This record gives sequence, C-alpha cells and structure tokens, in this order.
Amino acid sequence: MLGAPMVHGATRLERPAMWLVGALALLACGTPEAPPPRDTTPAAGSDAPPDPPLRPWSDEWIDAHAGAYLDDPGARRVALEASLTNAHNLYSETRLAAYGQRTRGWDALPEWNPRVRPIDAATAAAFSEGRVAPSMEGRAPFWDGVRPTTHEGWIALGARVFAELPLRTEPYWERALREPEYGDALGVERAPDGAVPGLVLVRDVDGTTGTAITCALCHTALDPSGAGPVPGRARRRLDYGRARLDAYTARGAPLDPRSVARWTSWGPGRADVLEDVADVPIAIPDLWGLRHQRLLTQAGTLRHDTPLALAIRQETQYVQANHLRTRPPRVLMWALTVYLESLAPPPPRAFEGPTAALEQGARVFASTCGRCHSNAAGSGALVPIEEIGTDPELATGRARGTGGYRPSPLVRVADAAPYLHHGAVPTLEALLDPARVEPGHRFGMELDEAERGALLTFLRTR
Ligand code: HEC
Ligand code: HEC
Repeated sequence: MLGAPMVHGATRLERPAMWLVGALALLACGTPEAPPPRDTTPAAGSDAPPDPPLRPWSDEWIDAHAGAYLDDPGARRVALEASLTNAHNLYSETRLAAYGQRTRGWDALPEWNPRVRPIDAATAAAFSEGRVAPSMEGRAPFWDGVRPTTHEGWIALGARVFAELPLRTEPYWERALREPEYGDALGVERAPDGAVPGLVLVRDVDGTTGTAITCALCHTALDPSGAGPVPGRARRRLDYGRARLDAYTARGAPLDPRSVARWTSWGPGRADVLEDVADVPIAIPDLWGLRHQRLLTQAGTLRHDTPLALAIRQETQYVQANHLRTRPPRVLMWALTVYLESLAPPPPRAFEGPTAALEQGARVFASTCGRCHSNAAGSGALVPIEEIGTDPELATGRARGTGGYRPSPLVRVADAAPYLHHGAVPTLEALLDPARVEPGHRFGMELDEAERGALLTFLRTR
C-alpha cells in the first residue's frame, strides 16, 4: 500500500501562478524581475546589524548548505527522511534502510575515485579505426582530493563529474564506438570536435578496463543547430533498451521473452532507471530550472526543499548504479549538485509575431493551466492520479509511487517532445487535441481554435 500522498489541493489552487506573473512582467516591460529585497532590520537588543538572511535558492544559500552535507552525517540522515514524499515506496524503503547509517549500510562502502579516460577525438578514432583501445597506464585518479573553495570552483568540478564520472561499466557500448554508424542509430552522438559525450573508459574496481556511462549519456544532447553538446538537454535519440537487447543477443545468452519485450518497448528517449522493479519506462527529462522545482522526478518522488535532497539523490544513484560495490566521494556529489542547480536552458526561440497573440496565449494559460503549472519553471505541486488521469503505473507503482504526478516543467517545452512522463504524446498540438486517444491531462480541450492557437504560441516562447 502507498502512504498518504503529499497533495495539498487547496494550497495549490490558492497559489498565484508565479511563472505566469513573471512571464507577463517580461512581456510588459522587457526586464527580468528584481530580486526580493533583503531584510536588514536590526535585531532587538543589539547594535550591530545582523547578517542579512540569504535568499533561498540563491548561489550563496546553496553554498551555505555544503557543510551540512559534507561534514554532518546526522544532517544527511535528517535531509534524507525529509526528502521522501512517500516513505513506503521501494525507493524510500531502500534508502531508509541503507543510507546515513554511519558505520553500516552504504556509508560503510569504499569510496571509488577511479581512473577515467574521456572519449576524446583521438580515443574515438582509435576505436573506430579498429586499433587497440588506449591504455589507462599513467592516468591519475579522477579527483585530486582537493575541495573547491568557490562557487565557480564547485561548478567546474561538477561539470566534470556530470560528463566523466562513471555510473558503472557497460562493456556493450564498445560496439557503438567501434561501429560509429551503429552507435549513431542508438543515439551515441559525436560532438563536432569528434569527442563522444556520455561514454568514458574506466579502470573498474576489479582492475579491468572497459567502457562506462556517465550522466551525459542521457542528459546531454547535440544542439540541432550544430553548436555542439548541450549539458542538461535530454538525449531523446538514445535507445538504451536496444543497446541492451543487442548486447545480450550478440553474446548468444538465453533471453527470456519478458526482457525482450521490455527493452523493445522503451524506444528512443525512454529508460527505466530503477532496474530492480517493474517495468516503467520514463521519458528522459531536460534538467533546466531544477532550483525552482520543489519536487524532483515525474512522480514527485523527492521533495527538494534544500540542495541536500538532490545531493543524496545523486549519491545514492551512483551507489545503486554501481551495484552497491562502492560509493562516490561526497565532495564530487556536492560539486555535481551545485552544477545541476546551476544548469540554465539555452535561450528561447525568438518570437516574431503579433504581441497580441502572445498576450492572449498568456491569459489563456493563466486561466486554464496556471493553477498547476504555477512555479518559476512552470511546474508545481503534486496532482493526484485521479485528477490527472494519465497512465497510473509510475504514480501508483511500488517503485517510486507517490499517488500522483508533478506538473511537468515547461521550460523550453516546444523542444521537449514527446510529452508526458512516459513520452506518449508526440506534439503540443496533440496534447491539446480533444480527439486525443492517450488518456488523461484533459485540460484546454474546450478552447476554441483562436485560443488554442494563442496558447500554443505562448508555450513555444517558453
Ligand atoms: C540511462 C539514462 C540516464 C542516465 C545515465 C542518468 N539519468 Fe537522470 N534521468 C533519467 C530518466 C529517465 C529520468 C526520469 C526519472 C523519473 O522521473 O522518475 C531522470 C531524471 C533525473 C533527474 C530529475 C529531474 C527532474 O526534473 O526532476 C535528475 C536531477 C537527473 N536525472 C540527474 C542525473 C544525473 C546527475 C545523472 C548522472 C549521475 C543521471 N541523471 C544519469 C535518465 C538517466
Ligand atoms: C490539474 C493540474 C494541471 C492542469 C490544469 C494542467 N496541467 Fe499540464 N500537466 C500536469 C501534470 C500533473 C502533468 C504531468 C502528467 C504526466 O506526465 O502524466 C502535466 C504535463 C503537461 C505537459 C507535458 C510536458 C512534458 O514535457 O512532457 C504539458 C505541455 C502541459 N502539461 C501543458 C499544460 C497546458 C498547456 C495546460 C492548460 C491548457 C495544462 N498543462 C493544464 C498538470 C496540469
């Protein structure tokens, strides 16, 4: 059974559509919102003015949480418990049993600071020309053991972690490197400079060297304009299921029909990221505007009230991905977190049309959509499955279920097709089409043609 889902329908309805207020302000004057003023009222009984409180989710505020995560095991455990939307799904139960136990559980795993070689142009060429893979001899460990001291320093280290620190070895990607056309069919992209983002060579814990995947395999994609890889952009071409299926077939390993059906059903852009549980392929999301999301993942599995929630998500993802053999150095997880919180989208598409249409679209959005898509990234509070009515398997499932779905963020939504948590709707037009067959999310269905057109125009500028 699921625990009580964390849904606060009334508060959601009362909350102003901040995302939209911001959008309208931009339309009106063309300048971004000013940050809220700091409280500089002196404390009673003291002459010295107190330190102004840090604005939540400012860079300084994020940085101020580093010590709690890095140096305070008690704070990590408290943050874990606070972050779990539903303590009774498998995701939560696993972590409650194993995380933040100091001398046992995952805290007792050895730290892994591996030797890594990114697939740069020269390494990629060695593979595609059939030469022996470059050796790992003489490579230093990934991290030099130095803790960054500035915000920029954390971001720079985090960018490396995101691009290069292996989640685990997956030897079957070597074929995608040796046969670039096959790799391309799987969505293994090559940057204009010849590098292959998302794959690396790593010296594994057992001393063998092989290909491994990083965050960038799923969360970095080439810009359609040819400008190169964009960290944070979902790799919607990636066919992870096919890569697995091909690997098993090539090995001649006996395959149960369920696995075949499972991996074939994913298709490009979807993956089941928790493999220990039932079959729920999920669309790979863009990672824009995370610092505005108070819920993480499409089912809202995690509350994101402080950056510790994200740091713990990432730390435990590495532990599970590497089959509970090692844990990542926490300094690297904090760096990754500061980096993820900093990821900003590429500029929106230029709007060349009558401003009146955009304004009408903004009004339609406010009245029809804004009660749910309410925060600065167009997301908002969890919506119960009964109300949203989309495919319930993930929302109510034992794996990560919470009883509902989070309103999908709408940052660069025009580039985020296909839509919904399982990527089941191909276009924005189809999502708003009253004749749509895919169930659920029946909002805006009553709009007339002009209103729908204006709403689409508005969405395309987000
Ligand atoms: C095999 C593909 C894959 C890899 C590799 C991967 N992810 Fe993801 N990621 C996904 C999918 C699919 C989801 C959606 C999960 C969900 O909503 O339950 C996701 C969700 C997320 C989210 C939540 C986003 C949101 O809007 O709430 C974050 C943050 C994230 N991933 C970061 C990372 C980081 C950091 C790494 C590397 C450590 C990583 N991911 C590796 C596929 C991947
Ligand atoms: C009752 C709350 C609610 C209302 C009202 C609502 N949405 Fe949503 N929206 C959601 C939820 C929840 C999801 C995620 C559902 C899922 O993935 O199964 C979602 C998903 C979406 C997506 C998919 C984005 C993606 O990247 O997959 C788009 C686009 C969207 N909504 C636009 C709209 C528009 C436009 C309106 C108004 C016509 C609207 N929504 C009204 C709650 C709502």
